[in-house]
Amino acid sequence: MHFLNTLNGKITSQPPIWIMRQAGRYLPEYRHIRNTELDFIEFCLNADKASEVTCQPIKKFNLDAAIIFSDILLIPHMLNFKVSFIKNKGPKLKKLDFGQRITFSDWDKFKSDLAPVGKAINLSRTKLNKDVKSKNTPIIGFSGSPWTLFTYLTEGQSSKDFFNARKFLWSNTHDTEEVFEILIQAIICFLEIQLEAGVDAIMLFDSWAGSIPARFRKKFIYYPTRKIVQHIRAKNSSIPIICFPKSMGEGILEFADIINPNCIAVDHLTDIEFVHKSISKNIAIQGNIDPICLAHGGDTLKKEVDYLLNLISDRPYIFNLGHGILPETPQQNLADIISYIREKKFGISIS
Ligand code: CP3
Repeated sequence: MHFLNTLNGKITSQPPIWIMRQAGRYLPEYRHIRNTELDFIEFCLNADKASEVTCQPIKKFNLDAAIIFSDILLIPHMLNFKVSFIKNKGPKLKKLDFGQRITFSDWDKFKSDLAPVGKAINLSRTKLNKDVKSKNTPIIGFSGSPWTLFTYLTEGQSSKDFFNARKFLWSNTHDTEEVFEILIQAIICFLEIQLEAGVDAIMLFDSWAGSIPARFRKKFIYYPTRKIVQHIRAKNSSIPIICFPKSMGEGILEFADIINPNCIAVDHLTDIEFVHKSISKNIAIQGNIDPICLAHGGDTLKKEVDYLLNLISDRPYIFNLGHGILPETPQQNLADIISYIREKKFGISIS
């Protein structure tokens, strides 16, 4: 439970640990179940399989939080921008063209299409509680943030320069705002399904926050994110919220100020010392080991962990990577670093 204590502002004697993409291809047992389903979206919507892979890393590494196995791209998929995953290439979507409007209004269908995610959360809870060691492990629900979802909608795939997404912003702010309103509504709906199913915390992934021109941050990152956070808090005042505005540079300070999340997840391209020195001590920090450093392992990784734990000893802190764990990562490296952290004590003891 110290994961939730940390999110609620307590400094614990050891940092809680979880890893972005902890259910994923670096685990042989994940690959085994994944191979039973060709289509990735179908896999996410199979409540039994999704709950099984949600629990795998908890059982194996005794992590302090589970994240429900799902994907941010379920939202565009259910808004009729059908998503498929092409092996070794990533996602492909039907894309939103310039001047095109999203005409979507069937929110009841949206909710019922996404009901398997709620079911997967219920099943994960049951499966986790069957085992003494994983009993009461908090479950994190999540969504993509509006800007990151907008980039997938307008690019139709992952992108390097985000040409279409940025062209949308400069050429027709009004149409863009209209699309954002629908995305905000869809995100809230998706999060509500997860809250109703009993998730213990929420994380908003803005994986491409670093690619928006700084002039548009207020309008298309800070304000839409604040709107979602305020809506969730109005309905569920005790739910902790983690935000991940990846690689936003100095904008992370204004982001923290305007949104006031319980926790900011810091990526490995952002100077965590700068963030730690600059943002309010009431906000927990999560991160930011380079996923390649974890894949490398050994003493280099231990030194990085020492650096982080020594640096952030006077604020609530959650151990994690700066981005998702890579498929190439030896699982032993993760097991080793978890025991290394748990054998160390740091910060102020609350017991
Ligand atoms: O963290 C977890 O363990 C929970 C599961 C999770 C997945 N995707 C499963 C997944 C979460 C939290 C996500 C979020 C997600 N999805 C993000 C935001 C976080 C980030 O990584 O920046 C984004 C941008 C996506 C979109 C997405 N999904 C892409 C670009 C890809 C392809 C890239 C890749 O790694 O292959 C996915 C597929 C995906 N989502 C996989 C997993 C485990 C791998 C696909 C597979 O197993 O076949």
